[in-house]
Amino acid sequence: MSVGGVPPRSQTVRRNDASVARREEVCQMARVMQVASARGGWLRRARDIVRSEGLRPLLSRGFRFAREAVFQHGEYYLYEHSLTQRDEALFSPRVDNLTFRIVRTNKEADELAAEIGSDFRRRFVRARRSLDRNAIAFCFFVGGEIAHIGWVALGEEAKACFDPVPYKVDFSGKVACTGGTITVPKYERRGLMAYGYVKRLEFLRELGWKASRNCVAVGNIASQKAQAKLGPRIYGRARCLKLLRWRFLWQRPIVKDAG
Ligand SMILES: CC(C)(COP(=O)(O)OP(=O)(O)OC[C@H]1O[C@@H](n2cnc3c(N)ncnc32)[C@H](O)[C@@H]1OP(=O)(O)O)[C@@H](O)C(=O)NCCC(=O)NCCS
Repeated sequence: MSVGGVPPRSQTVRRNDASVARREEVCQMARVMQVASARGGWLRRARDIVRSEGLRPLLSRGFRFAREAVFQHGEYYLYEHSLTQRDEALFSPRVDNLTFRIVRTNKEADELAAEIGSDFRRRFVRARRSLDRNAIAFCFFVGGEIAHIGWVALGEEAKACFDPVPYKVDFSGKVACTGGTITVPKYERRGLMAYGYVKRLEFLRELGWKASRNCVAVGNIASQKAQAKLGPRIYGRARCLKLLRWRFLWQRPIVKDAG
């Protein structure tokens, strides 16, 4: 019998069990929906690749993706950019009708998609998850079509979304991180990467951050050339090995002023 509206202990426990079970069910459903929508994104992207590039590029990307899930090895230069004010006019890209947006949340991305009629997350399917984890997207559009994207992280969780190489970034000491830079092939070699970096570094400077770090694969000449224009400090060279879900980093210092 309950006293003063308080149910007996066994009844309370049963009711708690039921609500815990219900909550578990809801969480399970949410997880299934999340996986389904993520898969939907990948499937849509796969269909877009087949339509625009054909089946062979899709298969080779799929193969690379599967291989890299198990084993990956890479050598990288470790960069640090100072956050001095740069003259943006010196970096103007050779692209007409360029528009630029900073997107911080999926809500902002939804609003932007409704405004311009295309959703950059459809092309960059990891973007939704990255925005959920506080990564900030720097998006450049030509006539409503995404032409270039780059990311900024102000914390470890956001960094891991676009940069799996585990070099140190002192976020608490106001050092940020950039990465996830991609120019759509049609717009390559027009200065978008260098310009995008100027925008990202200026954003960080205005927020009072002190420096920004990133890494570049040793063989990635296009990225190195673009970044050299910003006069970075290359403070190290690193070798990264990924085996299943473990990553190992060997790093040695070098000091070299590029640019
Ligand atoms: C790297 C990447 C972002 C460069 O984008 P971009 O908008 O073409 O870059 P920019 O035009 O600002 O600068 C690239 C520079 O490299 C040069 N370049 C491009 N491809 C090159 C190549 N294969 N070999 C040598 N130089 C090359 C360009 O001519 C340009 O130099 P220039 O301005 O002196 O002519 C683009 O190639 C890309 O998306 N690559 C795949 C993803 C990637 O590697 N991201 C970078 C990770 S750090």
